[in-house]
Amino acid sequence: MKLPYAKACEENKQVIAEVLRPFLQAGGDVLEVGSGTGQHAVFFAEQFPQIYWQTSDRQDCIEGLSARIGTVGLINTPKPLLLHVDGSWPNYRYDLIFSSNTLHIMDKHSAECFLSRCNQCLKPGGHLIVYGAFNYNQGYTSESNREFDQWLQKRDPSSYIKDFEWVEKIVNAAGFKLIDDIAMPANNRSLVWQFETLPKQ
Ligand SMILES: C[S@@+](CC[C@H](N)C(=O)[O-])C[C@H]1O[C@@H](n2cnc3c(N)ncnc32)[C@H](O)[C@@H]1O
Repeated sequence: MKLPYAKACEENKQVIAEVLRPFLQAGGDVLEVGSGTGQHAVFFAEQFPQIYWQTSDRQDCIEGLSARIGTVGLINTPKPLLLHVDGSWPNYRYDLIFSSNTLHIMDKHSAECFLSRCNQCLKPGGHLIVYGAFNYNQGYTSESNREFDQWLQKRDPSSYIKDFEWVEKIVNAAGFKLIDDIAMPANNRSLVWQFETLPKQ
């Protein structure tokens, strides 16, 4: 089959690798949520052979993702997991959860499920790193993000750029502390949280 391809992945993979580098230097297990084409997964798994990179996505992306992972044949990229963030999460605790350009695709409910449930799959002290476009103080950070949001909502009214403050509130309640918010090319951000403790019931 023709492998799925996203131009954006080729453009942002190197700068994202530099964000990931300090967290992956010592090795560890990574869960990627919404792996899409798998281009990031194979690039990061090649860059960081000391890690184990577990891809995942919804059912409709599994075939293409599996094809890419299978074609490249790296020993540190196992078969993709079927993971819809609204459903059940893997019964395993990873060192890091990474997700790129997914929150603005998800509807509000799915984004909330992702951010509030991913702690089930992280070791205490583990990290959540999310790359993508965010709004701050309920405003766009650029004209291009405004246009992008309009394009997203026209395509699917439930998709939209999420507010950083809304995201922060959910992850804080899930036991995460923000440790970095990095400006990336093309008005994107890399948000880095550390999972400290499970919230008290
Ligand atoms: C724009 S693509 C990004 C793919 C890849 N991470 C990248 O950076 O190119 C958004 C991805 O989010 C996934 N996604 C959307 N909603 C999801 C959900 N509820 N659960 C899991 N994945 C979801 C899609 O299937 C898709 O692969």
